[in-house]
Amino acid sequence: MNKPIYLDYNGTTPHDPEVIAAMRPFLETEFGNPSSSHWYGVAPHQAVENARRQVAGLLNCSPAEVFFTSGGTESNNHAIRGTVLALAHKGNHIITSTFEHPAVLEVCRYLETQGFETTYLPVDGDGLINPADVLNAIRSQTVLITIMHANNEVGTVQPISEISAIAKQHGIVMHTDAAQSLGKIPTDVQTLAVDLLSVAGHKIYAPKGIGALYVRPPLTLEKFCFGAGQEMGWRAGTENVLEIVGLGKACEIAARDLDQNRAHMQQLRDRLEGGLFDEVDQIRRNGHAHKRLPNTLSVSFKDLAANRILEEIGPEVAATAGAACHSDTVEVSHVLQAMGVPIDWAKGTLRFSVGRMTTVDQIDHAIRVVVDAVTQLRAT
Ligand SMILES: Cc1ncc(COP(=O)(O)O)c(C=O)c1O
Repeated sequence: MNKPIYLDYNGTTPHDPEVIAAMRPFLETEFGNPSSSHWYGVAPHQAVENARRQVAGLLNCSPAEVFFTSGGTESNNHAIRGTVLALAHKGNHIITSTFEHPAVLEVCRYLETQGFETTYLPVDGDGLINPADVLNAIRSQTVLITIMHANNEVGTVQPISEISAIAKQHGIVMHTDAAQSLGKIPTDVQTLAVDLLSVAGHKIYAPKGIGALYVRPPLTLEKFCFGAGQEMGWRAGTENVLEIVGLGKACEIAARDLDQNRAHMQQLRDRLEGGLFDEVDQIRRNGHAHKRLPNTLSVSFKDLAANRILEEIGPEVAATAGAACHSDTVEVSHVLQAMGVPIDWAKGTLRFSVGRMTTVDQIDHAIRVVVDAVTQLRAT
């Protein structure tokens, strides 16, 4: 059986063969604990420090400013909880947006039960935050601004450096969740001028369950989990050497091939978008036309149900729905709701996300499959 064409690279990515090759010795022979002072600890220790340099290379920071986590969710938890608990003596107010990933929203909601207050900024119809709204939301009690770099559903890229400048003027810590932007657009922490940045390995062709957090000195986070002194005391627990090595390699490749990958993804995403818009009526794009990840296409098919389209195309194309339609209710994603996408459009929303391995033939075939499915569903 032929597998469906994979157009869900924002969901996760396959392992890069170079990543697999880099990890292989740590699966097969190099089992030592990087904290061990004997012979077996040497190679794993060096590999972890090499990976730290590779991550730092992609982010343009010092290796000492990066520690490894279990992924994007944990990095966001560390960043947000760690900052506000460390700065609780200064204030209790957080600024974020309605548009964030649950790995940010749910942390803020939890912190509200602990006496913190959150302002959820709106986004415009393209999913953009207005930096003036950030400025207006600042209170004397504000200690953290957390705004995602790029959105996972629609790909809109936020004006992070402008927001960081506002944060800096007011002495507020600035965090960005870069789980989706990493490897797709530049994520230089100096240009973005952020204090904290979250990395997720499985979006950049490394394994699932590995990530990293960048922390700009002299910021010190409240400890997140307690134990031995690994990761410079930032995160206790024996390091996941195998996956740390994979993440490091993936970051090295992402930095090396960024321009080439970006151009490839954009060409294919635009081909998909163009093909669908040429052949289907009553279709709209969600997300900003240009300030958008080069690989992401969120489209709404008016008056259709996303899960019905997915059922039709499922054997040939793997994509995701922006809404779940049940017999009498429709649950539209919080992202589409935040952008004010009307319900008759929102309910028929699909996300396609291309990647490094996507080919022109796959895109052309996917266009045919989606066009046929939509035409057939509209006819019935
Ligand atoms: C924007 C964003 N943040 C955070 C995460 C969570 O990352 P992880 O799956 O590594 O926990 C994701 C994953 O979908 C994401 O898209």
